[in-house]
Amino acid sequence: MHYRAMNFLNLHTRSDRAAFFAEGKGRPVVFDKACQRWIVADGAQVIELLKDSRLISPNIAAGLDRLQRRFGVQLPNLIFAAGCIPLINEGAAHGEMRRSMSHCLGDHRKRMEAAAGELVERHFSILDGRSEVELIGETLAPFVAEVFSILTQTDEAPAFVPQDATRIFDHWASLNALLAAEVAIGTIRRGLEPLFRRGIPREQEGVYLALTILGRDSLLATLGDSLATLIADSAGRCLSEIEYPAHPPETGVAIAERQATESFAYDGVTFRKGDWLRLYFQGVTYGHGAAKGALMFGAGPHACLGRHLALDLWGAIAGKLASIHRRAEIVEFAYCDNHVFAMPRTVRLELHR
Ligand code: HEM
Repeated sequence: MHYRAMNFLNLHTRSDRAAFFAEGKGRPVVFDKACQRWIVADGAQVIELLKDSRLISPNIAAGLDRLQRRFGVQLPNLIFAAGCIPLINEGAAHGEMRRSMSHCLGDHRKRMEAAAGELVERHFSILDGRSEVELIGETLAPFVAEVFSILTQTDEAPAFVPQDATRIFDHWASLNALLAAEVAIGTIRRGLEPLFRRGIPREQEGVYLALTILGRDSLLATLGDSLATLIADSAGRCLSEIEYPAHPPETGVAIAERQATESFAYDGVTFRKGDWLRLYFQGVTYGHGAAKGALMFGAGPHACLGRHLALDLWGAIAGKLASIHRRAEIVEFAYCDNHVFAMPRTVRLELHR
């Protein structure tokens, strides 16, 4: 693979990416003209740069407003979301969002812990009964939808189209994809309405909305990609015979993007003020060292707030799968076309005794 000639927009979903990132240590930071980004593939550098205060994750509300005027479209839900998602906010506003979200997640952790066992049992038993299962659409997406209906205290788990809402993070998203995100975020907001009728202050809407947007696709993509890898690597063994690691082996949250607020030299290159960086988390997850599992959840001011929830659920799923004495084989696998997430669209399994 010729490093400098690669397509860095889809590297994170290439079938040979594990080999690429395993060799990644010591790869130079390069500028890729096609995506107009500095490419950082080495895991240690990714973590170092995430902690660097000269790099920020700028808000996109102004850009969305420009799109509205240029194309004569209405994007009120995207603009509302841009104002409450911590990942695309900085400074005092970002700190306040993080505090409210940590508080909300802390409040719900006990409830989620109590519900997780039954939820996993109900959604994953299908793998013990059927001879063919499409893991994303039939198991994981409904499971994740229900996790978030518990978290947001909404009664119904609205079905969701994976990756629609998170197009808000994709700088290469087409206008059609952004319009789909506008609809998806509007659906989440409508689903939250009963909360406010029950007395939860409306000011909390942003907290629940941001948790849903950030958490659902991250969880779905990571669970889907990790289970697919473990099953593919287990060469026909029973689900009960697979060794489930403490952290998911794959991350669906493949990319972080940041912009330089000032010019500075780094590893033999110079990032100029306004330059964008594309940081590959797979450089972290496929790297070596005991800390890599925790670091798949990021580092620095934007590190993941859903880590404990995600790991609790991963542990519960691993426990359930370890009780299923059936061999699973992947007969169809495809990724979504996505520039930020490694999000499987289809993982079709055949299951045998
Ligand atoms: C296994 C699943 C997950 C993985 C691998 C993951 C990974 C990450 C990573 C790498 C970041 C930092 C991104 C960056 O710096 O650009 C992040 C941020 C975030 N994650 Fe997760 N995440 C997962 C699940 C969740 C869940 C379930 C929730 C919520 C319930 C959540 C909430 C958040 C929030 C709120 C942030 C932004 C924090 C901030 O900007 O201050 N994540 N996640």
